[in-house]
Amino acid sequence: MSNAVNQSSSISVQPEIVLANNAPIQRRVEGYRTEISSSLGSRIDHEHFPIVTRHLNNAILRVCIGTPSTKSFAIQYDNLNTPEVQQASMEWTWRPNAHWQVGYHRHGTGFSTSRGLYTDDSGAQHLYLNFENHWPVYGLGEKTGELNKKNRRWSFWNSDVFAPHTEATDELYQSIPFFITKTDQGWLGVFLDNPGRCTLDFSLNAELCISVNNGAIDLYLISGESLPDILKHYTDLTGKPFLPPKWALGYHQSRHSYQSSEEVIQVVEQFRQHGIGLDALYLDIMYMDEYRVFSFDPKQFQKAPAMVEKLRSLGVHTVPIVDPGVKVDDQYRVYQQGLAGDYFIKGQDQNPWQGIVWPGVSVWPDFFNQEVSHWWRDLHHFYIDMGIQGFWNDMNEPAVFNEQKTIDDNALHYIDGETIEHGQVHNAYGLLMSEATAQAVTEHANQRPFVLTRAGYAGIQRSAAVWTGDNRSSWEHLRMSIPMLLNLGLSGVAFAGADIGGFMDNAQPELFVRWMQLGTFYPFMRNHCSIGLQSQEPWSFGEPWTKIATRAIQRRYAILPYLYQLFRDANETGTPIMRAMMWHDPSEVITENMADQFMLGQAMLVAPIMEPGQLARAVWLPKGQWLNVHEDKLVMGSGYQLAHAGLEDIPMFLRAGSILPLAPPRLSSEAPMTVLRLLIIEGKESNRILFRDDDGISIAKQSHKYVRLSFGYQLSQDIVECHLSIDQSQFKAQWSVLEIGLPSAWKKRKMTMNGVDLLNDAIVDGLSIKITFATPAIWL
Ligand code: GLC
Repeated sequence: MSNAVNQSSSISVQPEIVLANNAPIQRRVEGYRTEISSSLGSRIDHEHFPIVTRHLNNAILRVCIGTPSTKSFAIQYDNLNTPEVQQASMEWTWRPNAHWQVGYHRHGTGFSTSRGLYTDDSGAQHLYLNFENHWPVYGLGEKTGELNKKNRRWSFWNSDVFAPHTEATDELYQSIPFFITKTDQGWLGVFLDNPGRCTLDFSLNAELCISVNNGAIDLYLISGESLPDILKHYTDLTGKPFLPPKWALGYHQSRHSYQSSEEVIQVVEQFRQHGIGLDALYLDIMYMDEYRVFSFDPKQFQKAPAMVEKLRSLGVHTVPIVDPGVKVDDQYRVYQQGLAGDYFIKGQDQNPWQGIVWPGVSVWPDFFNQEVSHWWRDLHHFYIDMGIQGFWNDMNEPAVFNEQKTIDDNALHYIDGETIEHGQVHNAYGLLMSEATAQAVTEHANQRPFVLTRAGYAGIQRSAAVWTGDNRSSWEHLRMSIPMLLNLGLSGVAFAGADIGGFMDNAQPELFVRWMQLGTFYPFMRNHCSIGLQSQEPWSFGEPWTKIATRAIQRRYAILPYLYQLFRDANETGTPIMRAMMWHDPSEVITENMADQFMLGQAMLVAPIMEPGQLARAVWLPKGQWLNVHEDKLVMGSGYQLAHAGLEDIPMFLRAGSILPLAPPRLSSEAPMTVLRLLIIEGKESNRILFRDDDGISIAKQSHKYVRLSFGYQLSQDIVECHLSIDQSQFKAQWSVLEIGLPSAWKKRKMTMNGVDLLNDAIVDGLSIKITFATPAIWL
């Protein structure tokens, strides 16, 4: 037997064919003679398969089988309250027959191994766990297919996939080997921390197989009382989603490529001429001097600084693309510096590893080396000094135009003085690049950064927003974006979106406007399309399409305060912004795999039209009352409703009794918001909200200054009692007017505010109050 384990260790290895004929032969790893059981932590020393278990806190148990090749790039130990593990909710046991069990104290058994641990000739390890067929699987980051990821084998290897993404596509740009399941006893999260190639196979009968190509099976098992609880713990572990600057939540326009600074200015001016909101304009690769990063084309973008300034004066941020491939060119300062500093990934021959990407022959910075990350961070002075604070990191899988589409597995990185092969850490490359980029803005501009990344690994939510890469202009891709984004949210990545309108191919106008209507509710709203194709700016298709697209963008600007609250919540708790229907009430079995509609936060239910020629669709409403926005009518859940929307609108329902913070129309989030709107949806006796607002740009950790507005109402037969208080001691709000939109059904009732009769034009704590009876569709 060629197995390394057998040759040099005392443990016995039995040959055993456990998979189909063409699968590699796997051999069971045995040799743990004593039963070990622990509720706190322990370690078994073994040459090849040491097992370390440790309770990181009362909800998270780490079980690491084998030795990790490097430190973790995902885990943030500083965030965890580790020392005081009082009464762990999980315990683990390793039995002599190699059966391993993890159980909840409160709920009974959670996981146990079915067959144990296996190794194959390549050294890959496979751990088989019992996994009931009816347990759903959520998360797994950026994957195509259904919401419930059960019944498939999923592989994790960051890949540039230009071919059309289909249901059958597996590897994409992001790798987040984290999933959530609901066992018969409760919710459980499992994170496999291994940035090399790994797989989670849910296609087996009543089993799950966790495999790693190299390194350790380093598992974090998370127990929780509820789904939100699991996300909270997972993001305690890997970091909370960053709080973006407000401008990052507005509408963004991109294309491959606006080709001159004049064209860029012209496009932005057209937005303003059409009266269409816009917060960011993207510069794709053609802004550069022959694709050299940290440069502008000397002819077409000669006036880049003036262009950036001009856009700022129109309330628009410029977001340049920055790819990691550095052109091999002796005359190019970035290449020269990188060579001098020894900053590039090396081949086995110790020379910088070379491959071909946009600039031609290129080399790649070794972000695993901290000194390199700092160098890269500081290179961003080039843009930041011009007033740029947003960056788009692409091709950072890293993508290479070669057969394997990336850097050789045996190329070399330097991590804390050690040499590590690329194949062992591939999936973390994009994460480290985005972190260096985000730091450039925090450190050199002292502002909240906005980084958009294509590649990432668990923890990417700390530093960047994610878009789902090169999609197509098809109804299939519009539909596919929903489960993808929902599962990204369930993997900690709250800030995500798909290219609206589709990147490749030409969108038909109907598809385009339906996608804009849906994109209004993506956490990240960007329209992007490829070179040489039909333009996709909102006015590109003429009327009536321009009007419909404009309306979708207007709605985005209306919901910005509501959305910002959701980002703040995500930043504090890890809660997704765009949520699967099952998030709020998992007991409704029908929602287990529902992904043709979703919730934006707690109050908005969005049911996009996803077929051509449809003007209505069936919408499933959870328990309780819901307001159909288009028809301005309260309807009762749970159950299906036929929702009409016309071509101009998207079916949308608001939870009865909600109070939604909204904004009056603006063309940019940078335009002062002098009026705050609170829209009350009828249908409840009472409710209250706490709304927090800040300047939207200061780095939260440093200032953490915000205004707090607390508003509530209590309804009785003929009176509506409102309560309002504002605390502006830390931060003075931009808005000095509060417009309260009441249901027209309340018209006959008397209103009081803080116990005093409320007449129009009242002033409370310096805030002028205006009351209107608005139908929601007017403000939305
Ligand atoms: C990649 C990106 C795409 C971009 C293009 C050119 O395909 O995914 O968004 O426009 O490269 O930079």
